[in-house]
Amino acid sequence: SANNPWTGFQIFLSPYYANEVAAAAKQITDPTLSSKAASVANIPTFTWLDSVAKIPDLGTYLASASALGKSTGTKQLVQIVIYDLPDRNCAAKASNGEFSIANNGQANYENYIDQIVAQIQQFPDVRVVAVIEPDSLANLVTNLNVQKCANAKTTYLASVNYALTNLAKVGVYMYMDAGHAGWLGWPANLSPAAQLFTQVWQNAGKSPFIKGLATNVANYNALQAASPDPITQGNPNYDEIHYINALAPLLQQAGWDATFIVDQGRSGVQNIRQQWGDWCNIKGAGFGTRPTTNTGSQFIDSIVWVKPGGESDGTSNSSSPRYDSTCSLPDAAQPAPEAGTWFQAYFQTLVSAANPPL
Ligand code: GLC
Repeated sequence: SANNPWTGFQIFLSPYYANEVAAAAKQITDPTLSSKAASVANIPTFTWLDSVAKIPDLGTYLASASALGKSTGTKQLVQIVIYDLPDRNCAAKASNGEFSIANNGQANYENYIDQIVAQIQQFPDVRVVAVIEPDSLANLVTNLNVQKCANAKTTYLASVNYALTNLAKVGVYMYMDAGHAGWLGWPANLSPAAQLFTQVWQNAGKSPFIKGLATNVANYNALQAASPDPITQGNPNYDEIHYINALAPLLQQAGWDATFIVDQGRSGVQNIRQQWGDWCNIKGAGFGTRPTTNTGSQFIDSIVWVKPGGESDGTSNSSSPRYDSTCSLPDAAQPAPEAGTWFQAYFQTLVSAANPPL
C-alpha cells in the first residue's frame, strides 16, 4: 500500500552482516553448504546500533545507500535497530548495555539519539526504518516486579519518547518492539500492552512516522503455526498472526491505525523449545520466511529479519558478567559466545535447517 514504508524502495543490505556471512561461509568445507551459507548475505537484515561506537557505520551505510540509489535509480531503504537504553535488558542479563541510569544514562542516551539523527538528516534521499528498543516497553508491561525494571520505568519512557520524537523529525519510519505472542500475547497482557503502546504513541505526538509495532524480534515463533506448539499451553494467541490480530483492534480503538512488522529470521523450524519463554540460541532453529511485503495480512507491512542470524543471543560462559542462566538451558546451543558476537556452529544449523530451504 501507499502507506507501506517499503513500497517503492529497495532494501540496502547491511555490509556488516554481509561480511560476517562471507567470512562464515569460507569456514564451511562442504561446498554445497558453503554456497547456501554465502547466499544469506543477500537477505536483508537490520543493523543493530547497540552502542555509540556503531553510529559512524550508519553514516557510512547511508552514504553508500545514497550513492547506490543515485547510480541505479532505485531508492534505498536502510533498516536499523535503536538499542542502547540505559539499564538495557532489565529483566535478563545477556544483553546488558553500555549506559546506566545511575551514571548519566538518560543524557548519554539522548546524545546517542542526537548522533543518529545527525547522520540521517544528511541523506534525505535514503529512507530509514527503525525498530525501537527491543524488550524495553514489554518489560514495563510484565516485569515491574523485577527491581531493575521498576527502577528503569520513567527513564525508559522518557528515553523512548526522545527517540520517537527526534527520529520522526528526520522522517524515520518506526516500529516499537512489542515482544511476541508468548509474552504480551497472553490474554491478560493484551490490554495493558495496548494501553502502554498507545500512550507512548500519544505522548510522542501521534506522528505518522510511528507506524506501529515490531513483533517476534530475535524470537522463534511462527507467523502462522501449522498447529499450536505444546509449549503454548492453551494461549489462543499461539502464533504471531493471532497475537497481531488480537492486538491491532485494541490499538485502533484508541485511535491508532498501527501496522506491524514480524521477525521470521529464525522461525523456520517449530516445536524446538522446552518452554515458550526460552530465548537463548535455541537448538535446531533454522532460517525462516524471507523478508517480504507480501504478508497476507492488512495489519503487517513486512515480514523482516531483525535479528542477524548467526549472532549469539548470549554467552553460556557462567563466569561472564553478562551470563544469563537461560543460555545454559537444555534447549540452548552451547558453548555460546557473548550476545551479538558471531556463533559459527549456530549459523551453520540455521543454514542447513532453513525453511524454506536456501
Ligand atoms: C543482542 C546483543 C546485541 C546485538 C543483537 C543482534 O541483543 O546484545 O549486541 O547487536 O543481539 O545480534
